[in-house]
Amino acid sequence: MSGFNLFDAEEKNLEQAEDLRRHLLTAPEPVKDGINTLIEAYSRSVREQRRLVKVSDRLQAQLASVNQELGKRKAEAEDALESLKAAQESLVQSEKLASLGALVGGVAHEINTPVGIALSCASHLADSTAAMGKLFDADDISVEDFERFMATVVDTTGLILSNCERAAELIRSFKQVAVDRTSSERRRFNLGAYIRETLASLGPHLRQSGHAVRVECPDGIVMDSFPGALSQVLGNFVMNSLVHGFEVGQSGTLAITVDRPAPDLVRLIYTDDGKGIPEEHLGRVFDPFFTTRRGSGGSGLGLHIVYNLVTGPLGGSVTAESPESGGTIFTLTIPLAP
Ligand SMILES: Nc1ncnc2c1ncn2[C@@H]1O[C@H](COP(=O)(O)OP(=O)(O)OP(=O)(O)O)[C@@H](O)[C@H]1O
Ligand SMILES: [Mg+2]
Repeated sequence: MSGFNLFDAEEKNLEQAEDLRRHLLTAPEPVKDGINTLIEAYSRSVREQRRLVKVSDRLQAQLASVNQELGKRKAEAEDALESLKAAQESLVQSEKLASLGALVGGVAHEINTPVGIALSCASHLADSTAAMGKLFDADDISVEDFERFMATVVDTTGLILSNCERAAELIRSFKQVAVDRTSSERRRFNLGAYIRETLASLGPHLRQSGHAVRVECPDGIVMDSFPGALSQVLGNFVMNSLVHGFEVGQSGTLAITVDRPAPDLVRLIYTDDGKGIPEEHLGRVFDPFFTTRRGSGGSGLGLHIVYNLVTGPLGGSVTAESPESGGTIFTLTIPLAP
């Protein structure tokens, strides 16, 4: 912007003042002096205004360049944020891949044992059968030969069966790990009623154990979610309490408490007052194949499945704690409608 046009009127005034000064050459001294002072003051003020306009122009130009700089910085920051998001995304992906890799490695490792045993039993059986065949061809089977052969058959087939069952069981649990969103049915259900139904379905195990079971759930919480996933989660918690929480013959209390930390969230706190989980295990209980019962039926997939169900279809989070005073606490926080 230029100050030129802005000062047209002032320029004219100054010219008129100069004219006036010429006309007043004959006027008395005090009038001339007064007019001169006025004209001086007026032209000083016009100079000052011009200076101010220049300053303001300069400031505006600076402001414009600062604004431009700011715009550039903002664009840079947005770009940086974009690439950060992309980096985060790929980190999450590689984390997923890594944990999938660990899972597959774990499955191979776990299944290796029973399949290996079944295989060597089968080959032992094949050898014994071939030897028996030869004796039969030579018509040279003694009663002892036959008895030994029968004992081998019974032992090896027993081992083959139990180890194949173990492998099949591992594969079954492994299949559950790959939670399929579409395979489980989504529907509306009353949370309190559903928790009680689930516990009732676990009745036989619970009754035998002699533990007390407490449920505290506000009435009228209706969820639009995956009830099958929820009952699988609760089932795992309860079975874990029974298997890991207490010594045989010892009985305690299992409790489920529900509240709503926000209008669209439910928090489900599952506790038992058993042995608890040692501090050094707490960070690993959700890992696939982490179990303190290897060799006596534990595959270590239970809580991993829980983790996948909660963070997958149920769309929430789950934590494990074990206070100094003992017992185990699992806290689920899940949306009413994921
Ligand atoms: N309520 C509990 N009290 C004490 N320890 C627990 C409890 N729940 C889980 N744990 C510990 O966490 C480990 C992992 O549990 P998880 O359910 O994943 O495997 P698991 O029960 O050993 O085997 P699986 O469930 O596959 O049969 C258990 O081996 C146990 O050491
Ligand atoms: Mg378990």
